[in-house]
Amino acid sequence: MAWALAVFLTALVFAQAVGRILGLRRRNIQQRAKLFGILGAEDAHKKKIIGFFHPYCNAGGGGERVLWAAISALQRKEPEVVAVVYSGDTDATKEKIIDKVKARFDIELSPTTLHFVFLQSRHLVEDSAWPRFTLLGQSLGSMWLAYEAMTFLIPDLFIDTMGYAFTFPVVSLVGNIPVGAYVHYPTISTTMLSRVRSRSQGVTNSEVISSSALLTYGKLLYYRIFMYYYAYSLRQARFLMVNSTWTKNHVDSILQHRDLFLDVIHLLPPFIGLKLLSNRQSPREAKIVYPSCDTRQMAMSPLEGRERIILSIAQFRPEKDHPAQLRAFHKLLELYPEYRGSVQLVLIGGSRNVDDATRVENLHMLARELGIRDHVQFVVNASYAEVLRWLSRASIGLSTMVDEHFGINIVEFMAAGVIPVAHASGGPLLDIIVPLNGEPTGYHATTPETFAEAFRTVLTLPKEAELALRQRARTWAVQKFSAEEFEKGWDESGWRSWLFR
Ligand SMILES: *[C@@H]1O[C@H](CO)[C@@H](O)[C@H](O)[C@H]1NC(C)=O
Ligand SMILES: *[C@@H]1O[C@H](CO)[C@@H](O)[C@H](O)[C@H]1NC(C)=O
Repeated sequence: MAWALAVFLTALVFAQAVGRILGLRRRNIQQRAKLFGILGAEDAHKKKIIGFFHPYCNAGGGGERVLWAAISALQRKEPEVVAVVYSGDTDATKEKIIDKVKARFDIELSPTTLHFVFLQSRHLVEDSAWPRFTLLGQSLGSMWLAYEAMTFLIPDLFIDTMGYAFTFPVVSLVGNIPVGAYVHYPTISTTMLSRVRSRSQGVTNSEVISSSALLTYGKLLYYRIFMYYYAYSLRQARFLMVNSTWTKNHVDSILQHRDLFLDVIHLLPPFIGLKLLSNRQSPREAKIVYPSCDTRQMAMSPLEGRERIILSIAQFRPEKDHPAQLRAFHKLLELYPEYRGSVQLVLIGGSRNVDDATRVENLHMLARELGIRDHVQFVVNASYAEVLRWLSRASIGLSTMVDEHFGINIVEFMAAGVIPVAHASGGPLLDIIVPLNGEPTGYHATTPETFAEAFRTVLTLPKEAELALRQRARTWAVQKFSAEEFEKGWDESGWRSWLFR
C-alpha cells in the first residue's frame, strides 16, 4: 500500500518536473536570441554557446587561471563560439571581471564573445550554509545552482571547471546537452571511503559501545551513498580533464567504483529512472591537462656561474617540513665536511601569522642545535624580485614536502635552471621531475642521507654535464607546463566533437 503510494507520488513529481523542463527548453530559444542581441552577434544561427560553470570565477586563484586561460584560447581559435560563465559573483560586472583577469593573470579576454550569467543562490554551496552533512548539503546546493543556471540559459555544451560533479545529471536532464569537466580535486575519494570502512571494522572488532559502532556504520553508509552518486554523476560527463596525475588516479578509480548492494537497490521503481539515465558514453578515464605556469621571468636567468646555494622556496607551513631540509643539509656537511663554509642553505618563505613566525623561530633553534646556523640563511616574506634574484644564483632547489599534489615551486626551480632535489612522492615524483628523452631533469630523495647524496651528486657534476642538466630541466619545465601544451590538452579532450555534433 505504502509502496504503491510512493510510486504514485514519484510519478506525479516526475510528471511535474518533465512539464517544467519542457517549458524551460522552449523558453530557451528566446533566451539565446536575447543573448546574441546583447552581444550584437551577426549570423546568430551559426553561433554555439559553451557554458562554463564556475560560481567563484572572480576569486583569482589557480582554478580561475585555468578557466580564463581556456576561455581566452577558445576566443582566439573559435570566433563563432560564445563563452558563458555561470558565476555567483553578483557584486561584480563583466567589465570589472575582465579587468581583474588582465591585472591578475595577464590574460586578455574579448567582451564580444563572453557573457556572464549571475546566479543568486551561490550561498547554497558555501560551507557555512551546511554546518552538518556539509558534503551532502553542498552537493545538493550545487544541483540547485545548476538548475538556476539552466533557467537563465541552456548552452550547447556545459563544462564544469570547479568540481561540482553533482550538477552533471541536472544539466543533462534539464538541458539535454553534453557535459564535460576540468577537475582539480575530487570531492570525495575512494581512499576516504576505505578509511571510514576500515575504522568501522576496527570498531566492530573492539568492545566499543554499540551506539558508537552504529554511528560509524551510519557514517560509512553516508559515505557509501555519497560515493555512489558521485561516481554516477561523474559518469554523466562525456569528457573529463584533470590537473595532475594525483587527481587522475583518484578520478579514474572513482569512475571504476562499483557498489553491488546500491546497484540492486536502484533496480526498484522510484530509482530505476536514474539507472536509465546513466547509459551514457562516459569516458573510461580522465585526461591530464596540466595548468600552464608562467615561467617567462625565470627562464631568462643565466645557466652558468651558479653559486653553491641550496635554495628552498616554501611558505613556513608545517606540511612543507622545513626541519627535514635542515637535517638533510646537516647530513651533507657531516658526510662531506669539505662543504662546510662553501655551501649555503637559503630558506625563502612567507610567514602569514604567529604560528608561522614561531615555526621560523624553532627552525633557527634547530639550525643552532645542529651546528649549521652560520651556513643557513632565512629570507622571510621576500618580494617577487628578490625571489627571482635567488633563483638566478642558486645551484640546487630543495623541496621536502611529502605527497605534495603538485609543486609549482619545483617547476619554477627548473625553469630558472636550478636543479631540483625533491621528496620522492606526489607531483614532484609523478609529474614534474621526470626524465626527458631518458635523461634526468633532477633528483628525488626520502631520507637525510639520500637528500645529502643527491646534493653531493649535483655538486660534483662535471661542468658540461651540469650545464646540460640545467638546460634540460629548463626546457622540460617550460615546455611541459606551457600555455601551448595546455591548449593542446583541451583540444585533445574532445570537446569540439560534442559541441559541433
Ligand atoms: C590541482 O588542483 C589542486 C586543488 O586546487 C591543487 O592543490 C594542485 O596544486 C593542482 N595541481 C596543479 C598541477 O596545478
Ligand atoms: C610577513 O608578512 C605578514 C603579512 O603578510 C606579516 O604579518 C608578518 O609580520 C611578516 N613577517 C616578517 C618577518 O616580515
